[in-house]
Amino acid sequence: MIEKLGNWKRSHTCGELRISDIGKDVILMGWVDRRRDHGGLIFIDLRDRYGKTQLVFNPEVNATAHHKARNLKPEYVLAARGTVEKRPPDSQNPKLSTGEIEVAVAELRILNAAKTPPFQITDEVDAAEELRLKYRFLDLRRPSMQQNLLVRHKVYQVVRRFFDRHNFVEIETPFLMKSTPEGARDFLVPSRLHHGKFYALPQSPQTYKQILMVAGFDRYFQIVRCFRDEDLRADRQPEFTQIDVEMSFVSEEDIFAIVEELMADIFREILETELSLPFPKFTYEQAISRYGTDKPDLRFGMEICTFTKHLHRTDFRIFKDTVQKGGEVAGIVLPQGRQLSRSQIDSYGEFAKNFGAAGIFALQVADQKLEGSIAKYLSDEIQKRLIEISNAHPGDLLLLIADKPEIVYETLGALRLKLGEDFQLIDSSQYRLAWIVDFPLLEFDPQQGRFVAMHHPFTSPKEEDLEFLDVTPEKVHARAYDLVMNGNEIAGGSIRIHHREVQKKMFQLLGIDEKEAEKKFGFLLNALDYGAPPHGGIAFGFDRLVMLLVGGKSIREVIAFPKTTSAISLMDGAPTEVDRKQLEELGIRTISLNN
Ligand code: AMO
Repeated sequence: MIEKLGNWKRSHTCGELRISDIGKDVILMGWVDRRRDHGGLIFIDLRDRYGKTQLVFNPEVNATAHHKARNLKPEYVLAARGTVEKRPPDSQNPKLSTGEIEVAVAELRILNAAKTPPFQITDEVDAAEELRLKYRFLDLRRPSMQQNLLVRHKVYQVVRRFFDRHNFVEIETPFLMKSTPEGARDFLVPSRLHHGKFYALPQSPQTYKQILMVAGFDRYFQIVRCFRDEDLRADRQPEFTQIDVEMSFVSEEDIFAIVEELMADIFREILETELSLPFPKFTYEQAISRYGTDKPDLRFGMEICTFTKHLHRTDFRIFKDTVQKGGEVAGIVLPQGRQLSRSQIDSYGEFAKNFGAAGIFALQVADQKLEGSIAKYLSDEIQKRLIEISNAHPGDLLLLIADKPEIVYETLGALRLKLGEDFQLIDSSQYRLAWIVDFPLLEFDPQQGRFVAMHHPFTSPKEEDLEFLDVTPEKVHARAYDLVMNGNEIAGGSIRIHHREVQKKMFQLLGIDEKEAEKKFGFLLNALDYGAPPHGGIAFGFDRLVMLLVGGKSIREVIAFPKTTSAISLMDGAPTEVDRKQLEELGIRTISLNN
């Protein structure tokens, strides 16, 4: 039987009562976590977001309440009035903050029933993620999910307080905007009032925040949703949140300083950890040649060593050919990896093939020499050089790849991470942050047969490289930077172009002709004409940051209602078909491209 709340008011939460509350009359409300029937006595663990409290129903104290309690099932919603009592010593639970007390129930109101949940509401849940997403309201009742969202909430507050203290203005920018592709695909929204025309959901507020600088708001921030129709992974969602920042009259160092202070605040308040500032900096080239990626995980060593220039005189055909063709020979050392079996080494060879490498050469490190199938092709001198350069020790395993530079570094970067995980070389209690700077301005997209902006088209080239813009655009560096943490890109930004002519030149380089530039970005070019200050900024992937702070593996763990990797919301079924009438209003007719 379902009862009314009536005039009852919750007096305490389920995480609040302690030994000092003994004797108090209290009213608790929450969900049935567990019911245990001990002959005469019935025990209910009542749960809310603050914790759990044990309720005791004694037939001799209150027969009606005890009778009702016999039918309680998990997730029923209760209100219970009773007295706080000390638990007998043998039934105290030191793991629970309320574990020394219990509430002897005098009156019970069953506020709602619940169907049997499809999985248990505990952190040790073994249900498939699909099921958890379909029943997200139950999944979110689990303590770890509640904790994740509470941390997320705290981070919002720290961020807002920080920027307010530093004179930044929080300004909202439109969600319905002009389609101005920034790199990913836009989500489009059809206009009812202007048939055939579309708004786009912002991939980021990039152009708006730059225009706000032109408007004179010299310090802007926003915690803002961004929308990108791109292929999803564990660290990507079609809608995600950024902490978006822009500042006028600044250079890179000013942005670094403010971001470092913000990170220090977040770490102090959320993790009670002091970060050491400033963060180290790596150029893009250093990151690639030492870690094989522009988002290095610095929690462990195993840096890549490049041997190419020491191999000019080798007789080993594969190395010789690679060097002659402009390729690279590089490797990593697995400490104490000598014991790896043939089949283990083969499986890493297979792993390397996924990245386009022909395979890996494995050499066991002995005293002053190398052993393994290719050792006989390497002179004593070369063997010694390889050991010396890679700083390998007897008992280690040296893994080499000879190929095109991109393949060598990407493969070794991935192999380094895989070995790091497989051999537990990564200290998960550490947080290692670093700036990656001096990115190339452009990268060639072979599919489109043209250059695309590595960051975005509004990023300023480095002053000293301007002269190469026409001649060797691929050599021009950008005033762009990323912040990386434990192998994740958590923020990216740049100093922007604030002169119309440079911006036009950039569009030209990207193969966007004057007419198209005017059509797509005329509003920005127009603003640049009216006194645009030098400016720059950055945006954090807020979900990624929170994921790392809670030690999560996917941003879905810190987003209340995320989509699956195929962009479906399993709880409400979005995207869905819509009524014909809705489409008619929008002037849209759907056709199936499959017929
Ligand atoms: P960028 O595209 O690098 O820069 O995005 C900034 C940060 O946002 C996060 N991020 C994502 N997180 C979850 N899901 C996604 N699909 C996703 N895409 C990006 C990353 C990334 O570092 N306007 C520029 C910023 C600027 O220049 O100021 C921008 O959006 O952590």
